[in-house]
Amino acid sequence: RKYEILYNFKKKGYHKETWNSKMINKAIILAGGMGTRMSPLTKAVNKQLLPIYDKPLIFYPLSILMLAKIKDILIIVNKGQLNQYKKILPDGKRLGINITYKEQNYPKGLPDAFLLGEKFINNKNVALILGDNFFYGQNLTSKLINCTKLKSGAKVILHKVIKPELFGVAKTSKTGKITTIKEKPKKYFSDLAITGLYFFDKKVVEYAKKLKPSLRNELEITDLLKIYLKKKKLTSDILGRGGAWLDTGSIEDFYKTSAFVSAIENRQGFKIACLEEIAFNNNWIGKKEVLEAIQFYGKCDYTNYLKKMIT
Ligand code: TTP
Repeated sequence: RKYEILYNFKKKGYHKETWNSKMINKAIILAGGMGTRMSPLTKAVNKQLLPIYDKPLIFYPLSILMLAKIKDILIIVNKGQLNQYKKILPDGKRLGINITYKEQNYPKGLPDAFLLGEKFINNKNVALILGDNFFYGQNLTSKLINCTKLKSGAKVILHKVIKPELFGVAKTSKTGKITTIKEKPKKYFSDLAITGLYFFDKKVVEYAKKLKPSLRNELEITDLLKIYLKKKKLTSDILGRGGAWLDTGSIEDFYKTSAFVSAIENRQGFKIACLEEIAFNNNWIGKKEVLEAIQFYGKCDYTNYLKKMIT
């Protein structure tokens, strides 16, 4: 009987994890920002639409959410740039997911995602990923799925860096509970940077509303995390040395990430962040939708890859 139930669940496209305590089914991608460090490239085109090797940057954070089996996604974009995004990612139907958009008038800071997304969040737990963050590595999918089981509190992903003074940094206890966090610490206390992927319980909107702008006149994600820390509800998972986290904020980082993707893809023959491949493997779409995608993108290396996948 147990196996019969499991079989029926699978047939309907539910994954084991879906009915096995998955708590986070919604996520926000913050894909606005000024991209000042990348000007003049970002004067006319948003950073997240620029190419990381063979696809727009936005594909990479979106692929991370899809690997975490999150299907309900809000993309926050700059005012006036919505149409550009919709050209490449209309509503998610082609990927078997639901994409909605919200415009941000100006970059008020990362926690603004929860104020703009209040209706979308609808009093549920939610994940947030920064549109310019790149994650890659073995066991990443199971790590992500594990994070979506968060019931209460907040969880961040940490990654060791050489220059912690450039990042938000955390120190943890042996159980992964965070004991201290600091933004761009001048004095060394840990080399674990807080990456741009966060998991929150439904209280996040209430807490975000309490935040006051910092000296640089932005709502700060560190201040939001500190609220959870104070309540002893901030936990972490570490993306270890087998994984890569690259922040594509500067031109130098952008090209390094492109080179990384090119090296992996051309050596292994697997694409990183091929959205249709992830959706197909998740059983969210079938051959028909992949063929539609091939039609949509036209003749290119990306569609050659998709053709290979379905034949
Ligand atoms: P940042 O790197 O802080 O800002 P930026 O991308 O505008 O770049 P720069 O510092 O060169 O001006 O932003 C991190 C990510 O979050 C990036 O993908 C843009 C996005 N973002 C928003 O969408 N809204 C915001 O209010 C902020 C602060 C960032």
